[in-house]
Amino acid sequence: MTPEPTTTLTDVDLPETPLTTPEVPAHESASEAAANGKNGRRLSLQDLKAFYGDNEAVHGINLEYNPNEVTAMIGPSGCGKSTVLRCINRMHEEIPGAYSTGKVLLDGLDVYASDVDLTAVRRAIGMVFQKPTPFPTLSIFDNVAAGLKLAGIKGVEASDRVEWALKGAGLWNEVKDRLNSPGIGLSGGQQQRLCIARTIAVEPELILMDEPCSALDPIATLRVEELIQELKEQFTIVIVTHNMQQAARVADRTAFFLLGDLVEVGPTESIFTNPTDSRTEEYVSGKFG
Ligand SMILES: Nc1ncnc2c1ncn2[C@@H]1O[C@H](COP(=O)(O)OP(=O)(O)OP(=O)(O)O)[C@@H](O)[C@H]1O
Ligand SMILES: [Mg+2]
Repeated sequence: MTPEPTTTLTDVDLPETPLTTPEVPAHESASEAAANGKNGRRLSLQDLKAFYGDNEAVHGINLEYNPNEVTAMIGPSGCGKSTVLRCINRMHEEIPGAYSTGKVLLDGLDVYASDVDLTAVRRAIGMVFQKPTPFPTLSIFDNVAAGLKLAGIKGVEASDRVEWALKGAGLWNEVKDRLNSPGIGLSGGQQQRLCIARTIAVEPELILMDEPCSALDPIATLRVEELIQELKEQFTIVIVTHNMQQAARVADRTAFFLLGDLVEVGPTESIFTNPTDSRTEEYVSGKFG
């Protein structure tokens, strides 16, 4: 069932909202928080088109992402997966000449409504990129606290939240004794979990991941995949991946894209074992892409 929206994107900046006064005490794990009724949001795309100048790269997508589920987006290079992610958190419009039409709704709230606060949107919708992107000059602690600072969270509250996020990202035990060391001194897999900690620290409502494991070794990949399974208890997760096994392992539902179109979406197992469209069958069986 879709939870009723409790805040709007225009008021998430107000001090009484969950983002600045968390309902979740800082020491709770993501799954404990979920047991306390904290839920991800439903994301709906309605006739979403994305343009780069005159080039229409995404052709009118209609897609529902269920709350507290992992949805994988798969498809050959250039089919528009990253573009769709950037439309969801309004980063697409930052590219000169780029714009989109149609609707992006978060629990029914229009992310593109004229009265929506862009900063609030980007805080509500966290993004993890292909390459780990820790702030190079900041310590491990400050990397995770960066978003909190912007939200005006300081002192003990910030420290508690950093610890909670690092635990949630499965990194705490590895870094608790060197929180003041530079973030870039961590291994690639640790850096990616640091970026996930930074993303969840501000308690977004939706997490977008664009090939988050493509730069990681198999062990670090497995750790991030386990983490995704834990995080979906609390967040709605969208993951772009080129790795079919990864989609099969982590995603509840999978959406197959081709040349800017959504070909089909369904339970992951059906997409891999019994797709309705022959193009999906060809792609998942490795015949192209
Ligand atoms: N900054 C940009 N300027 C112009 N065109 C772009 C830009 N970024 C992407 N495109 C075009 O939009 C289309 C979709 O690209 P996008 O990066 O979304 O694909 P993708 O599915 O994420 O591919 P990949 O799997 O390689 O990451 C492509 O035709 C691409 O050339
Ligand atoms: Mg991409």
